[in-house]
Amino acid sequence: MSEDLIISTGSKEEQYQNITRQIKALIEGENDVIANLANITASLKQQFNWLWVGFYLVKNEELVLGPFQGPIACTRILKGRGVCGVAWLKSETIIVDDVALFPGHIACSSLSKSEIVVPLIREGEVFGVLDVDSEQLAAFDVIDKKNLELIVSLLTP
Ligand code: SME
Repeated sequence: MSEDLIISTGSKEEQYQNITRQIKALIEGENDVIANLANITASLKQQFNWLWVGFYLVKNEELVLGPFQGPIACTRILKGRGVCGVAWLKSETIIVDDVALFPGHIACSSLSKSEIVVPLIREGEVFGVLDVDSEQLAAFDVIDKKNLELIVSLLTP
């Protein structure tokens, strides 16, 4: 494994291809989930410089804050609450162009304007979510959805 991440300045798709290749190499052969989640958040933050990128993990029927990069965040989220809780409940990726318009959005940072939440699924069960926040409105689209779903799928080969 190289010690420094190589940052791409290409199109969003090229940036994802670049970072996904490096994430694969980083987590290959490492079976500690927290270590892998930590390196994924650091890689994504360095490549895309989003406001916040991190994981929440299901523990005793709640989402509990896991590895993240960015400002401090709320620690527990109930199923069906906020964007994260809805992604968990529906077991699907949710893209929010304007968090102010999402009913029940949980504002961990007043700087967050748009958000994408991708569920982590193992044997049909959601065991956590990847949450990404941007300071820009409508920062996320189908390219983010496709690529972030691919990245989290690397956790459950
Ligand atoms: N906005 C999220 C809460 C988590 S923070 O953004 C880090 C939500 O509505 O679920």
